[in-house]
Amino acid sequence: EKGGYDHFMLKEIHEQPKAISDTLTGRISEDGTKVVFDELNFPEGFAKDIDRIHILACGTSWHAGMVGKYAIEKLTRIPVDCEIASEYRYRDPIVSKNTLLIAITQSGETADTLAALRQAKEQGTRVLAITNVVGSSAAREADDVIFTWAGPEISVASTKAYTTQLTALYLFAGWLAQERGAAGAAEVPAMLTALRDMPAHAETVLETAPAIQAFAKDWSSREHAFFIGRGLDYEVSLEGSLKLKEISYMHAEAYPAGELKHGTLALIVEDIPVIALVTQDDLYEKTISNIQEVKARDAFVLALAWSGDTEIGKTVDQVIHIPKVSAFLAPILAVIPLQLLAYYASVARGNDVDNPRNLAKSVTVE
Ligand code: BG6
Repeated sequence: EKGGYDHFMLKEIHEQPKAISDTLTGRISEDGTKVVFDELNFPEGFAKDIDRIHILACGTSWHAGMVGKYAIEKLTRIPVDCEIASEYRYRDPIVSKNTLLIAITQSGETADTLAALRQAKEQGTRVLAITNVVGSSAAREADDVIFTWAGPEISVASTKAYTTQLTALYLFAGWLAQERGAAGAAEVPAMLTALRDMPAHAETVLETAPAIQAFAKDWSSREHAFFIGRGLDYEVSLEGSLKLKEISYMHAEAYPAGELKHGTLALIVEDIPVIALVTQDDLYEKTISNIQEVKARDAFVLALAWSGDTEIGKTVDQVIHIPKVSAFLAPILAVIPLQLLAYYASVARGNDVDNPRNLAKSVTVE
């Protein structure tokens, strides 16, 4: 049932090219230029009237939401908040009839997310669920549903759910931009072409596994690690850090690279592993100078950078290269080596990868 893999997590990491492809299927027009979401039944004019979007989720789904916020804001210019469901529901969020609430939940059964969804519905807010489970509570209760077609995710640590959530969110951002005639709609055809290439690129990224495994083995005896990046690289760092904590039990912190100097630089000491994400072209120089700050304190820096980036090797100790796509879509590929890192660190530490301590696949109590 593990398809020849040692653990479900590794199997599911390797299923990502197919899962992304399945999530795209039927959602791109034949000429490749438009997003098609036949499943969305927004009332007449609502897509144009939306003036605020709240994204709610927990855990990995929340991290996907952070990328979704970026994507929707970029393509539609609608202000988006992305919040942890258990926080959102206990404050008094500002909503109106033109607010769209997006609940992201792999299982569709997370109690905190469902409670926030129900509260929003009671207030008359339209709710769109992005979920992986047909027939789940979220799918049944939301006004609209976008399914991610990741297939069953068995491992507690979420992998293919995240990359398919990202895929669904990019598509939704593109769809909304096209419905509204937003300026960002002009970017959608190129985004769709790039998304269709993503499964093949993800296959290429999976080939980094042996290098990641060797790194994980060497560094898995450490107790602390940092993940740094700027912009979308920071959002992906959050997920990389969570993955490592969840299953290897190493303490990890994700930090916006520019913020280290305002806080935790004191914790960057000799030989501490720092995983630096360097895919955001506009922020490249800034990120490099942040990497130099940690190198000055003798950290060991593993960088995740574009293939073809021959400069980065001069600044860092080791580089993992991923195929070049637009910086906007980088998260789909950049997360994969981080999933592999968490996986191999967990294996090296002798942990029960698929069933980490104190964690359930879906938490149905508040
Ligand atoms: C946690 C899981 O309990 O719930 C995480 O351990 C998951 O892996 C989170 O990301 C949210 O789950 P869901 O099903 O709502 O996406």
